[in-house]
Amino acid sequence: MYITRLSLKNFRNYEDEKIEFSPGVNIIYGANGMGKTNALEAVYYFSQGRGFRGPAREAIRYGEEQGRTALEFFREGRECKGEIIFEKKAKKIFLNEIELKKTSQLVGRFVCVLFTPDELSLVKGPPEVRRRFLDSSIIPLRPACLSALVKYNLILKQKTALLKKGEYRMLPVFNRQLAEVGSGIIHMRRAYIESIRDIAAGVQSDISSGAEELEVIYSSSVRPGADRRETASLLLEKMEAMEESEKENKICFVGPHRDDISLKINGRPARSCASQGQQRSIVLALKAAQTELIERETGESPVMLLDDIMSELDRSRRDFLREKISGKQVIITCTEAEGETVGGNLIMVKDGKIIGNGDRSCF
Ligand SMILES: Nc1ncnc2c1ncn2[C@@H]1O[C@H](COP(=O)(O)OP(=O)(O)O)[C@@H](O)[C@H]1O
Ligand SMILES: [Mg+2]
Repeated sequence: MYITRLSLKNFRNYEDEKIEFSPGVNIIYGANGMGKTNALEAVYYFSQGRGFRGPAREAIRYGEEQGRTALEFFREGRECKGEIIFEKKAKKIFLNEIELKKTSQLVGRFVCVLFTPDELSLVKGPPEVRRRFLDSSIIPLRPACLSALVKYNLILKQKTALLKKGEYRMLPVFNRQLAEVGSGIIHMRRAYIESIRDIAAGVQSDISSGAEELEVIYSSSVRPGADRRETASLLLEKMEAMEESEKENKICFVGPHRDDISLKINGRPARSCASQGQQRSIVLALKAAQTELIERETGESPVMLLDDIMSELDRSRRDFLREKISGKQVIITCTEAEGETVGGNLIMVKDGKIIGNGDRSCF
C-alpha cells in the first residue's frame, strides 16, 4: 500500500497545498512549527477518520468555516481516492467520490502505522492510552470492533446517566446489554494480544540481544471465559456484585472500558520499572508487531508514519527500525540532519507552504 498525493485545503496551517509522494522513502523537512506533523496527521485521518491531535473541528484552519483533505493511494494495485470535508459540527467522508454513511466504512481501506515521540505514554501513560492503541490496531483488521465500541460507549453513557440520577429500575437491562456487547470487545482484544505477544517479545529480545523478556498480557476485570457467552455471564455476575458500589460512586466499574494491557520486562511491570531505553524498545516492539500482523492478515504493508522519531533513538534501535521499514512506504519528518545520507523524496515545508517536493538525496 502506498500514497501518491495529499491535498490540503484550510487544514491546520495549510491554506491550499499538494504534496506528491514516492513509493519509497519520503522526508518532510522543515523547522519547528512549520507543519510537518500536521501533514502526517492529515494522512493519518484516512486510516480511521480520526486524527491524533484532538477533535476534527480543531483541524480546520483558524478563521475558516471548512477544511478539506484528499488522499490518493494505491491498494491491492488499484488506485483509490479518499476525501474528508471538515466542518465545525461534523465531517463528511468520501471514498472514490461516493459519500460514506458511516466512518466505519472507511476503516481498513487505507492502513498506516504511526510512530511519534508521544508514544512513550503507551508504557507510562494511563490504561486509556493502551486501550486506544489496542482498539485502533484491531479496527483496521476487524471493522466490527468499531461498531461494537460505538454501541458499547453509548450504552455505558446511558447507564452512567442513570447512576447519576439515582434511577435504578432499568439498570439490569443496561447491564445485560453491556455484558453482551462488552464480551465481544474483550474477545477481540484478547485474540489480538494473543497474536502480537510473541512477535513483540521476539523484537524486544532482538533489540536487547536476548537480555529482556517482554510479556504482553490483556488484563481484564473478568477472567477469560471459554467463549463470548461465558465471558458475558462473568461480566454480568461481576456487575451485580459491584452494584452497590456503582450506585454509591455513580461510576461503572466493570467492563472493557476499565481493562488494560499489562506490560512486563523480565517479570516486572514496565510502567514503573523499565528504563527510558527499555520503554522505547517496548513501543518499537508493539508497533513492529502491529505492522507484522497487518502484513500477515492483509497481504499488504501499511504506510509507516515516523514523526521526529529517528533523533530520539539510539543507534541500535534506529538500525532496527530502519530494517523494519525497508521495502515499505515511509513518511519521515525531521528538523535537522540525521548525520548521514538519506536518499528519497524530499518535501520541504515552511509556514504551511510546500517549498520543495522532489527526488533527491539530502543531508
Ligand atoms: N487549526 C489550525 N489552524 C491554523 N494553524 C494551526 C492549526 N492547528 C495548528 N496550527 C499551527 O500549526 C503549527 C504547528 O505545526 P506542526 O505540524 O506541529 O509543526 P512541526 O513542523 O513542528 O511538526 C503551529 O504553528 C500551530 O499554530
Ligand atoms: Mg512536529
